[in-house]
Amino acid sequence: MNYRHAFHAGNPADVMKHAALARVLAYLGKKDAPYRVLDTHAGAGLYDLDGINARKTGEADAGIEAVLAAQDAGTLPAPAAALLAPYLDCVRGLRESGRKLYPGSPALALALSRPQDKFLFCELNKEERAKLEKRVGEAPGAEGRVKVLAQDGWQAIAAHLPPRERRGVVLVDPPFEEPGEFQRMVAGLEAAHRRFATGIFMLWYPIKDLRAVDAFRRDVAHLKLPKTLRVELDFAQVRALDTLSGSGLIIVNPPFTLADEMKTVLNALAPLLARDGKGRARVSWLTEAG
Ligand SMILES: C[S@@+](CC[C@H](N)C(=O)[O-])C[C@H]1O[C@@H](n2cnc3c(N)ncnc32)[C@H](O)[C@@H]1O
Repeated sequence: MNYRHAFHAGNPADVMKHAALARVLAYLGKKDAPYRVLDTHAGAGLYDLDGINARKTGEADAGIEAVLAAQDAGTLPAPAAALLAPYLDCVRGLRESGRKLYPGSPALALALSRPQDKFLFCELNKEERAKLEKRVGEAPGAEGRVKVLAQDGWQAIAAHLPPRERRGVVLVDPPFEEPGEFQRMVAGLEAAHRRFATGIFMLWYPIKDLRAVDAFRRDVAHLKLPKTLRVELDFAQVRALDTLSGSGLIIVNPPFTLADEMKTVLNALAPLLARDGKGRARVSWLTEAG
């Protein structure tokens, strides 16, 4: 396992994923009843965009930095700016420390939660897990609510679903550094949905090999789970099989507001996040209510 998310934190793919996660949590937070977040591939939790790894790639410059600059310039369309506010407020709040910190999914989820909400973060890499524990597991307000587990995220699906709260979101965000990740996602989704049919499932995937992505979408559709939404953003021209040209999310049981919200958000973000200013957003149903 060589993947380190610090090289990619805050890049365009992270922005679309975290913008969607923030909308899902805003929806779950509307009811007082507690929810649970299971993040099967959690990463280090919080990243320093001025750190050596992030600076080596500079990927955040075309991602979160471009979005913050547009917000500062007042060029984000108002409806999108309103929907992005909880996410961007969290990012800006972290910068009050004087460091250019960026929230990974664990820090973002914790920041947007209420005291009654609970979290399970799985991370297999020892060093990343130690950082996650320190940066998020021991953060103020985390005590008794956050568990950082040295557990394989795929096994966590069977071990921890359904959650006691019977409401919540499962984020599946593997590094895609090994062959077979798309197939594992489909099998993982099927197993997770069998155990927790009312849960919200968010599966992130890279758009590199278009055939593999097509096959993945087809396989997900064949599961015939009701209410499966596909959200994708192209931020570069397709050049080669190993170049990331976009990223996607399969979202099962999305909040009923999410498809329209993501259209508004991604249509505003697409030109900002695309390398040639011509990004493209796609939001469509793979399966609708059954
Ligand atoms: C893409 S990163 C996660 C980013 C994070 N979800 C975020 O949005 O900030 C994937 C992480 O999964 C970890 N990982 C890889 N295989 C795993 C597995 N089978 N179970 C749990 N974690 C795994 C990697 O070490 C890496 O830190």
